[in-house]
This record gives sequence, structure tokens and C-alpha cells, in this order.
Amino acid sequence: MKEFSVVIAGGGSTFTPGIVMMLLDNLDRFPLKTLKLYDNDEERQGILGEALEILLKEQAPNIDFIYTTDPKEAFSDIDFCMAHIRVGKYAMREKDEKVPLRHGVFGQETCGPGGMAYGMRSITGMLEIIDYMEQYSPDAWMLNYSNPAAIVAEACRVLRPNSKVLNICDMPVGTIRRMSQIVGKNPEDLEVNYFGLNHFGWWTSVKDKEGTEYIDKIRKYVSENGYLTQVEIDTQHTDPSWQATHKKAKDLLSVTPEFLPNTYLQYYLYPDYAFDHMKDHPEYTRANEVMEGREKIVFNHAKEIISKGSAEGISFEIDSHATFIVDLARAIAFNTHERMVMIVENNGAIANFPDDAMVEVPCIVGVDGPEPLTQGKIPSFQQALMFQQVTVEKLLVEAYIEKSYQKMWQALTLSKTIPSARVAKELLDDLIEENKDFWPTLK
Ligand code: NAD
Ligand code: G6P
Ligand code: MN
Repeated sequence: MKEFSVVIAGGGSTFTPGIVMMLLDNLDRFPLKTLKLYDNDEERQGILGEALEILLKEQAPNIDFIYTTDPKEAFSDIDFCMAHIRVGKYAMREKDEKVPLRHGVFGQETCGPGGMAYGMRSITGMLEIIDYMEQYSPDAWMLNYSNPAAIVAEACRVLRPNSKVLNICDMPVGTIRRMSQIVGKNPEDLEVNYFGLNHFGWWTSVKDKEGTEYIDKIRKYVSENGYLTQVEIDTQHTDPSWQATHKKAKDLLSVTPEFLPNTYLQYYLYPDYAFDHMKDHPEYTRANEVMEGREKIVFNHAKEIISKGSAEGISFEIDSHATFIVDLARAIAFNTHERMVMIVENNGAIANFPDDAMVEVPCIVGVDGPEPLTQGKIPSFQQALMFQQVTVEKLLVEAYIEKSYQKMWQALTLSKTIPSARVAKELLDDLIEENKDFWPTLK
């Protein structure tokens, strides 16, 4: 079987060791010749790079491994770039979550004003790594899960329309794993229909390969428990705030009882609830939970490996639902025609929605990338919600390109998460101040 060369961009990410362990776990399906880490923060990546170098020497000595901050070295001779950068890192995630709270609005990594602030930072970083990839490995594909994926995807559609960048999210896969446990099936045996935007969608069907429909059974379960399952099936979405999110799906389902909701809809359907749960501890948000949890655990593990000079007895968690990244790479490399939920340009997949909207739908993925599966017409409730949200995302990208204060203000004003144009303006002025090292200067 062909051996592949992969660069992980955002090599210093808290998710890097989990992805590397997942790649090692899948070498029989996706053999690796070269694995590289690339980051623009030498110190942060260096800790993970040094530890993974030791681990790989012990566990997979045939893989050429390097970590570098040099774009040419990183992006030359690669087949795939797996990208998960966070422009501004955790210091800025903390601001994305805390600034909105000062204005009576919830603060979240990818939704509402926090997600929009992050979007204005991410576009620049994403364009930079796309251009490096195209310069040094013009045939390579980028499998991107850097957030906010909806805004990044729209920016790619407009600014890099011919680039081989696929934007993906692990939430549909993570939730299907929960559903599979609810119905006692293997996740690989379930096939879904789904429509929406990234972090904004609904499942309309969950069937096994024989065609048996499980949606009624799952709806009944979710109407009582949300997506909380008996046994934890992933290691990522387990902290207390995530448990509350899984549970809240129950109230999302009650708004649209026919379809199963993506948990991120809580921020659009119950923004007041989201704010109420954050306002009592405005100094301690999800960013703090991650910095005290996942980030500490991952970096302490790495430091332990470095100080012992060996990874024996110290293992990073395998990011198990991230196997979808290998499935995606395989689908392109081996033309497997796997069915996967992805973020793509609509072009009729949702019949009563604009062609040029970036939507999230199941696709068949092969050597030329994803082919969206048509989901037909959607009900007007979802259509209207989605049109409002996708217009926010489009205005934001236009604001970025045109450096337009007015459009960014409109984007914030239109967002269902912000109560008025006044609040939107006050928020914008605050966000501009906090993001001045990262955003284009708005006029
Ligand atoms: P992190 O801050 O730990 O890691 C991000 C890394 O990116 C940092 O080491 C940082 O130095 C690096 N970076 C920032 N700008 C860069 C640039 N221009 N070039 C190269 N490297 C750069 O963050 P994390 O919590 O591990 O998350 C990483 C990313 O993955 C985030 O965007 C997060 O939202 C995303 N994510 C997405 C999904 C999904 O469903 N799509 C799932 C999980 C995580
Ligand atoms: C899910 C989403 C990602 C998001 C992540 C945040 O996996 O699909 O888009 O980045 O959650 O998780 P965290 O543990 O960092 O809050
Ligand atoms: Mn996501």
C-alpha cells in the first residue's frame, strides 16, 4: 500500500498527541512515510514535538518525524495537511468567551460574538497555511478542522475557491457515537441524513446498513435524557460543561420534535439560558476549564516523557472519534466513496436554500473530494434560522475582505445571539480593542 506524508498544522495543539496516537492506531489502513508538525509557536510545539519524537522512535521507528516552524520544510512533499490552528491561542479564546459576558451575551468559542471574533482572526492564519501548502505541495489536500469552521469554510469559498481544502467538524461523528450507544449498534453501521450549517443542524434519519430506521427510538431517548449516555464513549466531551450540553439537547428536541438537533443549537434557541449559566462565574469559562484540564494533562504528559527519555508507561489518549480524519484521507487517497457529513457549498443539496451557502450535509467522498447528497426541501422554521445565520457568516467574511466596520456591525446585529444594534455596536468596539493584534483594521 502507498505510504503517505502528512503535516499537522497547529502542531502545538492540545489535540495533536491524540491525533498522532490515532494515526498510529490506523497505520494498517493509512500507512505513513513521513509525519511532520508545523506551528508558528516554536516553544509550545517544541514540548509536544520532543515528546512525540521519543514516543515515535519507540512505537513507530519507520516513520520519519520532524517538527518545525519553517513553512518550506513543513509543507514540502506532503500528501495531506491536517490543520487545527487556533489563531490567538487560549489567551484569545478566553477573551472570545469573556468579552461578550460584559455585554449581557453568552461567550462561546464558535457561536455568537465570540465565534465571530475568532473568525476574524482565523481567516488570516488559514489563508497563510493554505498558501504555504499550495506553494510547496500543489497536489496536497488540506483536511481542516480549525474553527470557526463555518466562517473559515465561507472564507475559503470566496477567497480560495480552487484550493483543495475540506472543512470538517467532529460533532456529527461524536453525536452519532452517542446515538449508536443509545440503539446498541456500532457507529460504523449507522448511516444518517442531516442538514444544516456547521454547528447548526439536524438529523432527519439514522439507519443501519439494512435500512432499519432508529430515529424514533433515539428521539424518545433524547426527549428524556438528551444525548447523555450511560457509559462515556469519548474522552473529549466529558467535562461538566459538556455533560450539561448533552443534556440540554432534550430542550432543543422539544422545539423541533421531528428531527434530532446538533447540540450547538442551544446557543441560538436558548441564548438566555447559555448566558445565565455563564454570568455567575464570568472569570471561569470553558477556556479556563480546558487550560486547567486537557491542556495541563497533555503538556504534563509530554514533559514527563521528555524527562524520562521514554514514553513507556505514559500514554496519550487516542482521539478515537478523530478516526474520521483518517477515513476522510483514505476516501480521497483510495477513492473509497465513504459517506461522511461535511461542510460544502450547497449547490442544490438543500433544495430551498441558496446555492452559494456553505452547508453541512452527508457527502460521498472520493478522489475528487466530496459529492453532496441531496436532502430535499427543509421546513421553513429551519430554513429561516439557517438563512439568518448563514447571512451573518457571509457578512462577516465580507467585513473581513472589505475591512468594513459597517458590515461587521450588521453581522453582529443580525446574529440571533445579540439583542440589539446598540449591544452589537458596544460589543464590536470592545472586540476591536481586544483583537487589535489580529484583526484587519476596520474602517
Ligand atoms: P491550541 O491553542 O491548543 O492549539 C492551536 C495551535 O495552533 C497552537 O499551538 C498555536 O500556536 C497554533 N497556531 C496558531 N496560529 C497559527 C498559525 N497561523 N500557523 C500555525 N500555527 C498556528 O488549540 P486546541 O484547543 O487544541 O484547538 C485547535 C483547533 O482545533 C481550534 O481551532 C479548535 O477550535 C479546533 N477544533 C475543531 C474541531 C472541529 O470539530 N472542527 C474539533 C476540535 C478542535
Ligand atoms: C466540538 C466541536 C469543535 C469544538 C470543540 C470544543 O468537538 O465540534 O468544533 O472546537 O467541541 O471542545 P473544547 O473541549 O475545546 O471545548
Ligand atoms: Mn466542530
